[in-house]
Amino acid sequence: MAIREIRLLGDPVLREEAREVEVFDEELQSLVDDMFETMAAAEGAGLAAPQIGISRRVMVVDVRREAGPRGRVALINPRVVEVGEEEDRSPEGCLSIPGVSEVVARPLRVVMEGKTPRGEPIRVEGEELFARALLHELDHLDGVLFIDRLTPLKRRMLLRKYRKLQEEE
Ligand code: NI
Repeated sequence: MAIREIRLLGDPVLREEAREVEVFDEELQSLVDDMFETMAAAEGAGLAAPQIGISRRVMVVDVRREAGPRGRVALINPRVVEVGEEEDRSPEGCLSIPGVSEVVARPLRVVMEGKTPRGEPIRVEGEELFARALLHELDHLDGVLFIDRLTPLKRRMLLRKYRKLQEEE
């Protein structure tokens, strides 16, 4: 296992639509292992493959603190099969835009289906932070970042703060 470099806002790979995974082999398993390790090292709740420069539909989420053991999951080629009507507005951040966060509206509940790294079908049901993390990571696979879901004013303010933080480093 290895910790990979997390790509930051401005890296074009974050804006690409990631390709479906077709081969479920050891290389995929090792990518997923690295993603779990990279996410844990960065203390994140989720990570998508494009964030480490791999434009593939692979994502991991770890919200065990909030959702229990089933809150740690890897999803390959995920798709939404059900969303709740109820909305949740909570602060959200991203390992690719470190240091800033903003309230984002998301469905309170989501059901996704996809494959495990071994190619077996998997169905994941999440609520609150779990749902938020699943939807945030799925967005990454389509080249969408949470800042795209803010109003133009909120986005400008957040980006100004982010650039200031980057300059200070
Ligand atoms: Ni993110």
